[in-house]
Amino acid sequence: MASLTLPALPARYKPASIWLLYIVGLMPGLYAFYLGIFGGLGADPVRAFEHLLGLWALRFLCLGLVITPLRDLFGINLIGYRRALGLIAFYYVLAHFTVYLTLDRGLILSSIAGDILKRPYIMLGMAGLLMLIPLALTSNQASIRRLGPSWNRLHKLVYPVLIVAVLHYVLSLKVISAEPAFYLAVATVLLGYRLVRPKIMARRRAKRATARS
Ligand code: HEM
Repeated sequence: MASLTLPALPARYKPASIWLLYIVGLMPGLYAFYLGIFGGLGADPVRAFEHLLGLWALRFLCLGLVITPLRDLFGINLIGYRRALGLIAFYYVLAHFTVYLTLDRGLILSSIAGDILKRPYIMLGMAGLLMLIPLALTSNQASIRRLGPSWNRLHKLVYPVLIVAVLHYVLSLKVISAEPAFYLAVATVLLGYRLVRPKIMARRRAKRATARS
């Protein structure tokens, strides 16, 4: 596969670019909050806000999972931004969950419990949130050092997270329109790539070894 070499950002700008990513990434949520307060989210602002936060969570989950294929297949190395993308996704899920608990369900435990039992897609969302917690808590250098190879194994949890997140989205709808179909397709490609990746990498290693000898 052809490899594209992009001009690399000088190392001294890297931390600033990561902070910029956090700011830009969280902007849609803050803007939606602003719109909600000033009546710009339509007739059902709570629902609209909840949906927007869920969608941004899913978008950032997918963006985090695009980094590896981009590097493998096109030589575009954005690995330094993966942690920020994952954490932004987590913050959106937390915000989405908080809106659900407070504005949607009014913190009424019986209503939340009833909802979880009545609507299985809520359970899938909960599973996604619960799996994201250890990932967010260990997304730092100290945990990477402490956990060693187990860190990689633990962070593979992001694949089931994407599966339950997409199912949660699709099952929350009565009809599947273009948007959920798009995310279903994106998730299938991203996860499908992980299945064929070992073969692609092995073939590439073999080619490199032959070239060297
Ligand atoms: C990985 C975690 C999660 C992701 C990525 C996610 C994403 C989404 C998405 C994309 C939607 C649909 C938005 C739309 O229709 O435009 C949605 C809807 C929803 N989610 Fe989540 N979600 C997650 C976790 C949760 C959790 C933990 C809860 C609550 C316990 C929850 C409650 C809801 C509710 C109530 C809706 C609206 C369904 C309706 O229209 O009635 N989600 N979520």
